[in-house]
Amino acid sequence: MTQQDTDQQGTDQSRNLPKRELGTQGLEAGAIGLGTMGMTMAYGAGDEPGGIATIRRAYELGVTLFDTAELYGMGTGSNEQLLGRAVKDFRDDIVIATKFGFDMDAPQNAAGMALNSRPDHIREVTENSLRHLGTDYIDVLYQHRVDPDVPIEDVAGTVGELIAEGKVRYLGLSEAGPDILRRAHAVHPVSVLQTEYSVFERAVEAEVLPVVRELGIGFVPYSPLGRGFLTGAVKPAAEYPQDDMRSWDDRWQPGNYEKNLAAIRELTALADTKGITATQLALAWLLAQGDDIVPIPGTRSPQRLAENVAAAQATLTPQDLARVQEILPRGAAGSRYPEAIMPSW
Ligand SMILES: NC(=O)c1ccc[n+]([C@@H]2O[C@H](COP(=O)([O-])OP(=O)(O)OC[C@H]3O[C@@H](n4cnc5c(N)ncnc54)[C@H](OP(=O)(O)O)[C@@H]3O)[C@@H](O)[C@H]2O)c1
Repeated sequence: MTQQDTDQQGTDQSRNLPKRELGTQGLEAGAIGLGTMGMTMAYGAGDEPGGIATIRRAYELGVTLFDTAELYGMGTGSNEQLLGRAVKDFRDDIVIATKFGFDMDAPQNAAGMALNSRPDHIREVTENSLRHLGTDYIDVLYQHRVDPDVPIEDVAGTVGELIAEGKVRYLGLSEAGPDILRRAHAVHPVSVLQTEYSVFERAVEAEVLPVVRELGIGFVPYSPLGRGFLTGAVKPAAEYPQDDMRSWDDRWQPGNYEKNLAAIRELTALADTKGITATQLALAWLLAQGDDIVPIPGTRSPQRLAENVAAAQATLTPQDLARVQEILPRGAAGSRYPEAIMPSW
């Protein structure tokens, strides 16, 4: 499939991007969203013009859920500002999700960024996010990481107050386990949980997804393309620049890399039989896991965005799903985070 074909496929087929409900509080979004993290960090140099063009193309193709965070600008607001600028002409048609939960002023240590979900800090970060986004309401406000020093009841209560004040519409959590979800939900309804989930990363299936479904919470898989590995457009860890996290990501390290590449070759062969790309297969697989799921693949390219959005038109049969399971019964080789920063549920 050429780039032009892919774009064409995205253009023609995805204007009808179906909507999905996230949670039971009224939040709705196009079945595929867009993550903006890579536009300013994580995968080498950011790309502001590419990011803005991609966000606008996404809107044209029916994407409504746009995912950012205070963290993605490392406290400067750059990622939220980029998103706010890109969507200013259609802001009320879309869902802006952002996140608090880190202390950007504290030095980074081996355990990563310092956490801070104290109520006064949540309020301060929310005001900053509103300013950076150039909006007077945030649709989904996520706690980015559970803070062991602040009871989740205080966090849910604070976001509940911001909702009552009209500054926020829905409460979200990221990387929260069953107990935290239940406790937060008892204080204020959680509309959406965001956690890594993909053909490569399956940990949420055992205990998290059942609780999400029991409580009627929507689920947003992040890194749904395995940080790009599932697209097949990969190279060994040593070939990435230092500011690209794939230079140290365990799934790219020698030994794991070769195993994961072999799995991608098999996924690509399956995708070929269906006339779709491996990337589209990975996203269609997530959509097939439940109609309460809206993945947020990240890209800086309008063309790749169109390819990703068109995945919503792909249908996987039970045989396709069984074949994926056979290729990757437990997900990728290698851990999704180093031990020191691995979220614990
Ligand atoms: N809550 C959390 O803790 C958390 C953690 C991580 C991420 N997230 C969110 O989830 C979003 C998505 O996750 P992610 O960006 O980490 O990983 P991802 O979506 O799994 O993969 C992104 C990578 O795939 C590449 N890519 C995307 N579409 C492609 C295509 N069609 N063909 C080839 N390459 C393609 C992108 O490169 P190009 O940009 O060059 O296309 C980028 O390098 C983030 O933007 C962020 O909003 C949240």
